[in-house]
Amino acid sequence: MATMTPDANVPDHVPAENVWDHSFVDFLAELDDPYLAGGRLHDGPGVIWARDASFGMPSWIFTQHSLVMEGFANARKFSSLRGPLTEAVMNPDWMLLPVESDAPFHQHYRHVLRPFFTPESIAQRHGEIQTLTESLIDAFIERGQCEFISEFASIFPNALVVSIMGLPKEMLQQFLEWEELAIHGSSHAEQLGAGNAIHDYLRDFIEQQQRSGEPASEMMAAILAGQMEDRPLNQDEILGIVYLLFIAGLDTVFSSMGWIVRYLATDHGLQDRLRTNPQDIPAAIEEFTRAFGVSAPSRIVAEDIVFEGVPMKKGEHILLPTYLAGRDPRAFENPHVIDIDRKPRHVTFGIGSHLCIGIHLAKSEMRIMLETLLRRMHNIRLPEGDIIEYHTSNTIGLDRLPLEWDLP
Ligand code: HEM
Repeated sequence: MATMTPDANVPDHVPAENVWDHSFVDFLAELDDPYLAGGRLHDGPGVIWARDASFGMPSWIFTQHSLVMEGFANARKFSSLRGPLTEAVMNPDWMLLPVESDAPFHQHYRHVLRPFFTPESIAQRHGEIQTLTESLIDAFIERGQCEFISEFASIFPNALVVSIMGLPKEMLQQFLEWEELAIHGSSHAEQLGAGNAIHDYLRDFIEQQQRSGEPASEMMAAILAGQMEDRPLNQDEILGIVYLLFIAGLDTVFSSMGWIVRYLATDHGLQDRLRTNPQDIPAAIEEFTRAFGVSAPSRIVAEDIVFEGVPMKKGEHILLPTYLAGRDPRAFENPHVIDIDRKPRHVTFGIGSHLCIGIHLAKSEMRIMLETLLRRMHNIRLPEGDIIEYHTSNTIGLDRLPLEWDLP
């Protein structure tokens, strides 16, 4: 840990041995593998104060699996309300629900969505997910090569969320363009502008359904009729739920898919095993999601506490990087090795009351993608001389994934 002179980004109560003098985003990008790059933090303290966690702003970061787990599960110490890091990049009028709420309100917001994300509801979407998967692959299968991120992984979760929410299908291309800007825009302003455009669009979309009295989908009908205890949800709450639902399953899914397929393209033994034994694919997905966590959800310190011997003050921001938790050698032997027989208990989808509501949908998307790719492509591989390109901002995800294969 660096010793340093006091500055605005390091409050007095933070012990010098917990201060970490790097940009977190740059640190993850230093090697050609963000998981190995992040793994270097496992040699240090479990709780660090990063002077530059994001956009030059400081935050606590929990680096170990057990601490990330407690960060998710212990709502008394760690609140889900919006923290300074998010305040700096998000319009204060926008809500993100249910994720930025605590008990007792949280359960009411979540209740609105729950029926649409049960294993049974997701099972009913199997045909729709399969058809979408096949149609995207149809577009490039005969070529024997593709750029998997732009031709599959980024389109797939978007097309699905458009269909689940009942958004107009002709908007898909526009959503893809806005999201591309939100992740890769050349300036902070351009990135925020793209988020604004999506938000404005969804606000109009909601108002138009309220005016017409004709919700675009069963899920939209449930959200529009949602209750907070004995009152209807207000406009900001409705928009907060719709906006989160729209964005929550996009770059998480596409980033996970990218890392998984990239890994698979380098492990031909595993490809053969899963092709011959598709019943092992769910176990593989469990292990892949352990190893390829992509997000770092936030908490704030709920009250002044001493945690792991470190004093923390109410309101301070905390990041819970699932990609550090999943590679912690204290929790997983040989954490950088993929072993689909490991049966890991991981926190890539969170844990506790905010556990990812889309977990069954996400796993179903990944299972159908893997089954279909393995059935339709043999000897999936990376082109020779391939260079890895990825981003390490909100989520860690691949920017490009060129693939080659043989036809069966
Ligand atoms: C591989 C894909 C995904 C990953 C890794 C992922 C990860 C997570 C994590 C870690 C959380 C917990 C956040 C927290 O505790 O603060 C979460 C919450 C959430 N996720 Fe996902 N997610 C994925 C896919 C999806 C999908 C497909 C949807 C829906 C379309 C979705 C919707 C949500 C929602 C609404 C929440 C908030 C739940 C609450 O606060 O009660 N996610 N997700």
